[in-house]
Amino acid sequence: MQLKECLTSQTAQRLFLVHPPEPTPDLLLSDPSEGIYIGKTRWLNVPVFWNYKKLINSHLAIVGITGAGKSYLVKTFLTRAALVWNSNAIILDWTGEYNNWVKQAGGQVISLGKESINLLDLAGLKPMERVKQIMSSFEILIDLNNFPEERFDIEEALEETYHKIKKPTLADLVAILEKKKKKHAARLLRQFLIEGSDFFSRQSTLEFDKLAESGLVCVDLHSLPTEEMRSLAGLTILQFLKEKMRREELKETKGIKLFVVIDEAWKIASDERSDVITIVREGRKYNFGLIVASQNPTDMHKTIISNVGTMFILRLVLREYKDYMRSSLNYSPYIDDAISGFGVGDAAVNMIFSKRSEKAHTFLLDKIDGEEPLFVYTIKVGKMTIEVEREQLSRMLYELGLTDEQINLVKVDFERGDGVLEASTLVSLLEKFGYSHTSVMTFLRQLGVEEKFIVEVFSLTRRRHATKGVVDLKLEEVEE
Ligand SMILES: Nc1ncnc2c1ncn2[C@@H]1O[C@H](COP(=O)(O)OP(=O)(O)OP(=O)(O)O)[C@@H](O)[C@H]1O
Ligand SMILES: [Mg+2]
Repeated sequence: MQLKECLTSQTAQRLFLVHPPEPTPDLLLSDPSEGIYIGKTRWLNVPVFWNYKKLINSHLAIVGITGAGKSYLVKTFLTRAALVWNSNAIILDWTGEYNNWVKQAGGQVISLGKESINLLDLAGLKPMERVKQIMSSFEILIDLNNFPEERFDIEEALEETYHKIKKPTLADLVAILEKKKKKHAARLLRQFLIEGSDFFSRQSTLEFDKLAESGLVCVDLHSLPTEEMRSLAGLTILQFLKEKMRREELKETKGIKLFVVIDEAWKIASDERSDVITIVREGRKYNFGLIVASQNPTDMHKTIISNVGTMFILRLVLREYKDYMRSSLNYSPYIDDAISGFGVGDAAVNMIFSKRSEKAHTFLLDKIDGEEPLFVYTIKVGKMTIEVEREQLSRMLYELGLTDEQINLVKVDFERGDGVLEASTLVSLLEKFGYSHTSVMTFLRQLGVEEKFIVEVFSLTRRRHATKGVVDLKLEEVEE
């Protein structure tokens, strides 16, 4: 008996070691004119095409540590969606990391600091419906649940504003609250009227109906002064787009017309009342695909993780994050293990197929097979700027002896600055990897940095170390 048990479990293990199950090829393969190619499965090398017709909805979520390849996947995906279906895309760019790419890809960048969105725009809704949406944004952002009295005052005044004024703005709402002597309620909203932060209280300069049909659009939110402002802008844009898509008949159009990307939007992806959650929960009826990405899976509400048609898990290391994902998706310990060993671009993919007999599958994908247009990095040295093509810089760093992982850390710093990096930051990184003063200097010369600036870079780097209190004596000793 014991022997039998032992043999059975061994056989099971052996079978499992051959490879963990992958979805059948008919679920993954599509004609290139009907799906977006992403990469090949790890074990059977089956090409994986993202085809929304085979999935329960067209929404995607992506998690992974910094540098794991989230933005790269988004860029690859949008580039191919434009080719396959002529899809439009609106990127709500929290950190400003898509700016340059969008420009290089021929899209337009909209800076919300300069443009404005009237929060009280009806966007095709009846005033009562819009009141509900605005109240839900306020609930998320100014914690109105803790101020029930003010909540009531604001809602009442909002209804009155729509009743009395034809095209009202937030300034009208606050004026009405003040007239009614609802001082505290007015104070809660006044932060959105301060000069320089009043993009929500002026008439809209943006037409989202048009933007949703304008190819590739990046709405740069990072110039907004606070996270609350960014979230309010994100939520409002999402509400307007949702209404626009809803108004359009769900005609059998070919492909997805619009993708909306939300990268690192922790506040609006983690709150249950947010439209992000509604859109994912209600699944298919929206005529667009939502793409949510985050470094920290716990910032992503479980409803998103377990209801998106496609979930990409790139490299994760923290136990807490891995457990959060596993408890939401229930994949095997084998996959859980693989996730911490992932290199850049490797992914575990969870897809929920629409075929009745099929349920969710999580499988491993070897390196997302992507493409980015030629990309130029800019290194800033004093008044001088040096431009170098990304792949060339990678090659130079490789020749200098950096490992793939180290090269990637350098690239992450560039990507974060939207392709621009101070030379002193680059030098700090190289020093951290253990490179001597002399070899870093040679490298800078190779890049074409003028002699007089080389000295400047080093003194800047040293000053930075000193202010951080981390003067690295060991490195100083290695010098010359
Ligand atoms: N599948 C891939 N194939 C080749 N290179 C990749 C791949 N994925 C990412 N990279 C490269 O790795 C670097 C970091 O990727 P990316 O900017 O997408 O990371 P991220 O996950 O968005 O990080 P962050 O959270 O810091 O924004 C980029 O320079 C990118 O070109
Ligand atoms: Mg990114």
